[in-house]
Amino acid sequence: MSEVLFSQGADEGTVRKLWPTETDKFRDHLLRLDKESRRMRFAHSVSDSFIEDYASRMAEFGSVVYGYIAEGRVRAAAELRRLGDAWGEEAEAAFSVETVYQDQGIGSDLMGRIVRAARNRGIRRLYMSCLAENSKMQAIARKHEADLRFEYGEVIGEIMPDTPNYFSIMAEAAEDRVGFMIAVLELQSRMVRAA
Ligand SMILES: CC(C)(COP(=O)(O)OP(=O)(O)OC[C@H]1O[C@@H](n2cnc3c(N)ncnc32)[C@H](O)[C@@H]1OP(=O)(O)O)[C@@H](O)C(=O)NCCC(=O)NCCS
Repeated sequence: MSEVLFSQGADEGTVRKLWPTETDKFRDHLLRLDKESRRMRFAHSVSDSFIEDYASRMAEFGSVVYGYIAEGRVRAAAELRRLGDAWGEEAEAAFSVETVYQDQGIGSDLMGRIVRAARNRGIRRLYMSCLAENSKMQAIARKHEADLRFEYGEVIGEIMPDTPNYFSIMAEAAEDRVGFMIAVLELQSRMVRAA
């Protein structure tokens, strides 16, 4: 998957993995979600302090988090979370896109990257849960041939990623190198602005 640039008017963004030191940017993104998106993301209403605590443990969970970044801010995120202390055969995915950035293909792009990241970690079952009314998330999951089932008012999507191969591993590694360069450039431009 190539590096994708999305544009929102003059606001153009890129997708890269977030570093464990970027929990603040991740937190601020989750806090900016409007009430309904926040409810959809966490399957119930959650407080600011819940989000602050959740985001602060991003690195602790050992999650892989992709961010869509525009003008230095994370505007969308996708998380791949392991279900135990180490990566096993199963993992969970979650997605969030700020309202004005929705419906531009960002969620679908992030889903592709998360499925590939799961594949490269040998995950055989990737779960995604969302509220039954979340047709948009279910549409994206269907594009990845997810098996969707209803459970207690939620929809559980189960995706079985392909086994990793040379190309899937190289594609993620190449993107990580570009992501690293982008992160360095972002840092430099912040330092120049602050000087
Ligand atoms: C769900 C979410 C991640 C989707 O991200 P997005 O960037 O808006 O999604 P995309 O633009 O990539 O794709 C949306 C797809 O849903 C389809 N869609 C839009 N509205 C729809 C609706 N009411 N019913 C069914 N499908 C719908 C679109 O046509 C598109 O599919 P297509 O690419 O085949 O045309 C985003 O809306 C979001 O963050 N919502 C709040 C949090 C959330 O629900 N998270 C998921 C639970 S973890």
